[in-house]
Amino acid sequence: MMSVLPEKKEGHFPYLLWGKWESGQKQETGVPFTEMIPGPEGRNPWQYALGDRKTIDLVLSGLSNASRVMGAMTRHRRSLILSETARLLDVNREALANLLVCEVGKPISAARFEVERAATTFLLASRLATDFGSQLIPGDIVPQGARMTGMVERVPIGPVLAITPYNFPLNLLAHKVAPALASGCPVVVKPAPKGALSALALGKILLSAGLPPEALSIVPCDIPEVLLMVDAPEIPVISFTGSAEVGWSLRDRVPRKQVLLELGGNAAVVILKDAIEEGLVDRLMTGAFAYSGQICISIQRILVDRSRYDRFLETFVERVRKMGNEGGIGDPASSSTLMGSLISETHATRVHEKVLSAISRGAVSSLPVKRLGAMLHPVILSGTDADDPIEQEEVFGPVVTVNPFDSPAEAVKRVNGSRFGIQASIMTGSLETGILMAGELEMGGVLVNEIPTFRLDHWPYGGVKESGKGWEGVAYAMEEMTRPRLLAYRLH
Ligand code: SIN
Repeated sequence: MMSVLPEKKEGHFPYLLWGKWESGQKQETGVPFTEMIPGPEGRNPWQYALGDRKTIDLVLSGLSNASRVMGAMTRHRRSLILSETARLLDVNREALANLLVCEVGKPISAARFEVERAATTFLLASRLATDFGSQLIPGDIVPQGARMTGMVERVPIGPVLAITPYNFPLNLLAHKVAPALASGCPVVVKPAPKGALSALALGKILLSAGLPPEALSIVPCDIPEVLLMVDAPEIPVISFTGSAEVGWSLRDRVPRKQVLLELGGNAAVVILKDAIEEGLVDRLMTGAFAYSGQICISIQRILVDRSRYDRFLETFVERVRKMGNEGGIGDPASSSTLMGSLISETHATRVHEKVLSAISRGAVSSLPVKRLGAMLHPVILSGTDADDPIEQEEVFGPVVTVNPFDSPAEAVKRVNGSRFGIQASIMTGSLETGILMAGELEMGGVLVNEIPTFRLDHWPYGGVKESGKGWEGVAYAMEEMTRPRLLAYRLH
């Protein structure tokens, strides 16, 4: 990719922006997308600037002023900017969804949903900007605290470096930027190279909503420049979503910083003997194959009570085949598409090789394994061992294993027998059984009678074990990005 140097305006951050839509494209509102996302004259609309070392120096040197600007901003103003951002996301939903389709190949219906969720995330942050955190704590609950009162305010830890992945270029960025701004932290964003235009579009919207340019920099850049920011003393908080290997290496690199990690997973579903059949297969198909499985909580392992196993596998395979025949696989711009190609041919080749190597170790594929370039068709494997890499490692592709179990205890052991733990599901007709079993699973979250791919943006989201550290879900992220500050007084 060629880099286009950013325009630098005196007194403004090197907030880098562009991306453009085909001229003539209209949003539902009738406003041409180019008015929201102006591309520089005469430049390739799919190019954007890469920040170099000088850009990074400029960003870093501006951060103490950025903290002052955010610190001086009332909670009321922060809240207004965040709610206006939500409104502008909503108004531009169709154009942004189309951008997601083109930039990261997200199927249009999922792309629209992502924009809606991003708007919700900003709306939640807008409410929390005014309501979050302050407490009056009487001292006299212990004898030596008589006639004393403590006021505890949550204050921003400082600038946040948000490093985001390609799979949800808007909403996973929203989950870092919105709580940071609601908490009063300036943000520097390092977007995924594939996903940077969507990040820049969100940046433009935030500025249009009234965010002072000092508060936000979006800096697509290469690894050496990212590491300059990771190491910089000016940035005390790093919020990273991506692979476990990269995430933990960042944390080990700067152990004294607040490093928040949302990492990989191999989400499992346990189908108990009494699971309710209605809608089950459809939901599991969506959870395993939507966006070709490029979701941290995509279903990678399905465990089925042996008494239901054969019938389940047959119905599931049939349902996935039918989805393919009904236009569910292919062009992400089509509203019937559930899964298109993977993000790149390199990634598809990697996933394909993992599948072939699992088959060479004895896994049985229920569907023909087909790959053409970046397009990998759905893969359903059975007969895999619990410790096989296809179960143990995050695949991040349209691949799911289906295996039987003989007792709930065996299923729990298999789900827990992984270095990852983000979300898992239990399907059962008995809520009591589900709740009791959920307590035995080592996970950030367990869903009973819903797929593990389900997420609400105000719920805590994160992983245990190697799946991460720290929590997202707006209020939880605000907790991570702030610290308590005590002011106490004594009455004479
Ligand atoms: C992720 O891939 O971690 C994000 C899932 C989601 O927000 O739905």
